[in-house]
Amino acid sequence: MKIVLASDHGGFELLREIASQLDDLGIDYDNIGCDCETSVDYPDYGIPAAEKVANGSYDRGILICGTGIGMSIAANKVKGIRAALVHDVYTARVTREHNDSNILVMGARVIGVDLAKEIVKTWLAGEFQGGRHANRIGKVAAYEEK
Ligand code: RB5
Repeated sequence: MKIVLASDHGGFELLREIASQLDDLGIDYDNIGCDCETSVDYPDYGIPAAEKVANGSYDRGILICGTGIGMSIAANKVKGIRAALVHDVYTARVTREHNDSNILVMGARVIGVDLAKEIVKTWLAGEFQGGRHANRIGKVAAYEEK
């Protein structure tokens, strides 16, 4: 599995922690920025990252901003993206099982490093259950085609 990482300035520090977690787990990733805590605009990083997942260059993405909301809004504008804003371990698991989320979004000003790492571990391990959930995702995809 190859993962694309991106953040704005609000998520920069937490994303570094997540990158180091992925190093420890031996998971392949690229971090496409931002590369410092100077103020930047989350769509400039979130949308390109989402496009890389949507076009198949990466299997999944992890995006972080201050609240996670801006990155979620931006990523979910990209066709084929199911970005899940997650701040608890239960949702991390269920969004993989039910929504087949292909991008995980977190807010660095909302949760701490240890919880974020637990969420990442759970989300990476979660498996889509298909069945009725595939039908529901299909309805969203059909709407995207309108
Ligand atoms: C940046 O200050 C902040 O607005 C951004 O990181 C994010 O929380 C937006 O939704």
